[in-house]
Amino acid sequence: MDERGERIDGVLAWLDANEDAGVGRLCDWLKIPSISTDPAYAAHCVRAAEWAADQLRSVGFEAELRATGGHPIVMAHSGGEPGYRGPHVLFYGHYDVQPADPLELWESPAFEPVVREAREGEEGGRRVVARGAVDDKGQVSTFLEAMRAWKESSGLTGGGVRWTIMLEGEEESGSKNLEAFVREHQAELKKCDVCLISDTGMLGRDRPAITYGVRGLSYTEVVLHGANQDLHSGLWGGRCPNPITELARVLAQLHDKKRRVTIPGFYDDVRPIKKSERAAWKKLKFNQKTALKAIGLSAAADVGEAGFTALEREWGRPTAELNGITGGYTGAGAKTVIPSRASAKVSFRLVADQNPKKIAKAFFAWCKERTPPGCRWEFIDHGSGPGVTTPVDSETMQCAQRAMKRASGRKPAMIRSGGSIPVAGMLKDRLGLDTIFMGFGLDDDRVHSPNEKFEIDCWRLGARSHALLVDELRSAGGL
Ligand code: BES
Ligand code: MN
Ligand code: MN
Repeated sequence: MDERGERIDGVLAWLDANEDAGVGRLCDWLKIPSISTDPAYAAHCVRAAEWAADQLRSVGFEAELRATGGHPIVMAHSGGEPGYRGPHVLFYGHYDVQPADPLELWESPAFEPVVREAREGEEGGRRVVARGAVDDKGQVSTFLEAMRAWKESSGLTGGGVRWTIMLEGEEESGSKNLEAFVREHQAELKKCDVCLISDTGMLGRDRPAITYGVRGLSYTEVVLHGANQDLHSGLWGGRCPNPITELARVLAQLHDKKRRVTIPGFYDDVRPIKKSERAAWKKLKFNQKTALKAIGLSAAADVGEAGFTALEREWGRPTAELNGITGGYTGAGAKTVIPSRASAKVSFRLVADQNPKKIAKAFFAWCKERTPPGCRWEFIDHGSGPGVTTPVDSETMQCAQRAMKRASGRKPAMIRSGGSIPVAGMLKDRLGLDTIFMGFGLDDDRVHSPNEKFEIDCWRLGARSHALLVDELRSAGGL
């Protein structure tokens, strides 16, 4: 065998031999409750960032925490082996997690990770159960372990590839300080040629995939104010507007009979799904019926914008969703009240080339035109980011495809995702960087939900894929 072959075999053998230790390290990280949205957990966020920086230092990277005004960002570098002429890769991940609520639905505490076999009735195999197991600490740890394997078995930091590593602590709470951070560090980030993110999913077990596009997001809240006080619904019902009823009447107009969004101009900038993409997605043989069944729905629930399949609707079409609605009395028993206000969280998933700010503005204007008599609106913009799609034929994309194929024995499917990862749009718009999403999650991982898990087979595939990507990058880089 040649030197290259021996080297990568050594790296993969190291991963095999040290798998339990690697999962153990992940569990140490998962014990830190780095919930970014709740200020009470700020010190834990710093601890989780420090944990990651220490890991990176221990395998040769220069790593530090950078202040953002919110939770710190971990930045790390390695200059690469002399003679490496391949791409300088920016690896992005996030160390923050979603809140664990509702706590009572967890089979074991969210921040006491458990490694266990599948139970009767559960698909898949051995798994880590904890908040952050797959989103995103578990996926980042597949990268960290690949870096460790290369260092331990070859002595090369980052396997000799030129890396910049950026781990964010506010992804799950809207990446509020990221835009400014990217702007202030653009000289540093501009040195990178491409971004790599492991924070997405596969098509299924044994169906590895690379994601070449994520949707954007515009998140808003609207409050409809009526009287200056709550009212007795016997005395005032029928005499003045009820903000809940009026808000519901307005929001019910958000979709037409074909379930298209009715805001004027909403679809103006939408980049249509290419014919070739539609054909390619059909070939993936995605089974919507099975997917619906897994979440307790029948085939009748296959609803959405008319004229598009489920995959097309998720990957290539924009949507408007109500994420929360409040008003009036929601406690136990009955209370006859007309509330002074009602509110709704309304978000829009966007595709290229929609402008998230423009969409929020258009929605607010649409509400205004429908202001119920005697009522008043309050509009809140909770932040946004554009969608992105990545060219599928770049050199680095080909490296990633080959790496995943070698790691799994199967050619990865090229997919998109309906989810959003704000950094990708910022890197594209500000620095022109494309992002390759090499993720290892499954549809039933319970992301953001109680009993989040990451299956060890997926974790192993992630670690091997990242290790093999290094081998591919080295070879592309003339080493
Ligand atoms: N990792 C997810 C997004 C994701 C999950 C993409 C699965 C593809 C497949 C990310 O952490 C996330 O939850 N993003 C939020 C963004 C929001 C908080 C700005 C989302 O998509 O809702
Ligand atoms: Mn994530
Ligand atoms: Mn998430």
